[in-house]
Amino acid sequence: MKNPPARFRIETPTKNGSSEMTTPGNTQSTDKTAGDLSITDKRTNKNYDLSIKDGAIRAADLRQIKTADRDDVGLLSYDPAFMNTASCRSSITYIDGDKGILRYRGYPIEQLAEKASFLEVAWLLRHGELPNQKEYDGFVHDITYHTYVHENIRNFLQGFRYDAHPMSMLQSSVAALSSFYPEARNIFDPEQRNIAVIRLLAKTPTIAAFSYRHSKGLPVVYPDNSLSYVENFLSMINRMTEPRYEANPTFVRALEILFILHADHEQNCSTSSVRMVGSSHVDPFSAMSAGVAALFGPLHGGANEQVLRMIEEIGTIQNVPAFIETVKSGSGKLMGFGHRVYKSYDPRAKIVKQLADSVFKITGVDRGLEIALELERIALQDDYFVSRKLYPNVDFYTGLIYRSMGFPTEFFTVLFAIARMAGWLSQWEEMLLDKEQKIARPRQIFTGHGERQFKQTINVGIK
Ligand code: CMC
Repeated sequence: MKNPPARFRIETPTKNGSSEMTTPGNTQSTDKTAGDLSITDKRTNKNYDLSIKDGAIRAADLRQIKTADRDDVGLLSYDPAFMNTASCRSSITYIDGDKGILRYRGYPIEQLAEKASFLEVAWLLRHGELPNQKEYDGFVHDITYHTYVHENIRNFLQGFRYDAHPMSMLQSSVAALSSFYPEARNIFDPEQRNIAVIRLLAKTPTIAAFSYRHSKGLPVVYPDNSLSYVENFLSMINRMTEPRYEANPTFVRALEILFILHADHEQNCSTSSVRMVGSSHVDPFSAMSAGVAALFGPLHGGANEQVLRMIEEIGTIQNVPAFIETVKSGSGKLMGFGHRVYKSYDPRAKIVKQLADSVFKITGVDRGLEIALELERIALQDDYFVSRKLYPNVDFYTGLIYRSMGFPTEFFTVLFAIARMAGWLSQWEEMLLDKEQKIARPRQIFTGHGERQFKQTINVGIK
């Protein structure tokens, strides 16, 4: 019979001398959580004092906790899916998931969405402060003059089937850029980092638009340097025979706001992928393509595409209650609902909902809006969703806006990727310059066979 699992007693002495359990939380400037954690290992009756800083202990400090067994390498923390593990210190984005707060470098997302431009936000994320006029003008100029891609990238995109998913095209083309800029491998040269950041921000919309035109069987539209970042993107998407594309100003501002809302979101799946791949010191184009790959998944950025497919499948408002019941019975998810960090309304979703009104005033109300509103209405009253704190996330309403603006469903996640590139690049650079970071390399708890002898059972042609 197996022994019952060994236990620890964990106490954190407080200032008044009593003990209480501590939940690591988000701290910003003053560290009210600092102190010591006293642990008794009941297997050995040994005591350990571990430092708590910023609401966290260092997992590596647990390694000193060992039994007398010579093979015991020390205690590991087991945390599948990083449910409770901070992998870095970051000063870029702050989220309070219970209060529904999101800030970039201290600035509330609501203020940035109202007053800033996307490139201003991209600068802010990377540099930590808003640009002054000279810095901003120089940055916009640099981005504008790097929007062209090498013609071989255009040819490369032509190699895809007409029905290739645009996220596959984007991911491989971003990776392919690394072969055009081998000097970008000098990641510790600030000049090389800077030009790679400019190139990635400038060329991602171009590649995205080229892949859109490829899907439509249309010739590509080259960048127009007289246009703003968003106007130029819409021109590369929509322009036909007109000499200059005049985008609808409401669409331009709506897309700019959506880009701002999506620009960063701290250590989510794609950002962590970028950091992890980047931690091997590969070039930024390769690291960013890992971000695009992670974002493609339906539980992450791919959810905006899945929300629209779900709404189409539901079909009519009358079918909503039955659909909710199937979700509650465990077959499928309510896409665009739920979040690892937000346990209240996603602040981005609130802004997106308001934005939808301004776009629908021009395009007419999207046919899926009625279904989406009914899904939200029922879910927010239903104990299944309420008890699990499942609220609409950023992806719930964005698809309806994108569709009203004429984007095809499979293109929605590409729009997310264009914006998130700003966050990925900032987080990648922060990781590189962080002296505490090393190549990311998690541990495992091995659950497989012990040693066993190989026996030849099939003929594989080895003489
Ligand atoms: N519909 C129905 N049930 C859900 C949903 C949902 N959308 N999300 C979570 N749950 C349930 C889940 O089944 C679990 O129930 P139980 O406790 O009975 O097992 C409980 O809620 C906790 O969920 P979880 O899966 O442990 O939560 P997580 O933090 O691992 O996953 C999530 C977060 C976003 C992947 C998940 O909520 C989800 O799959 N949502 C749908 C996909 C989606 O909208 N993704 C976009 C996320 S926001 C933008 C982005 O990151 O790109």
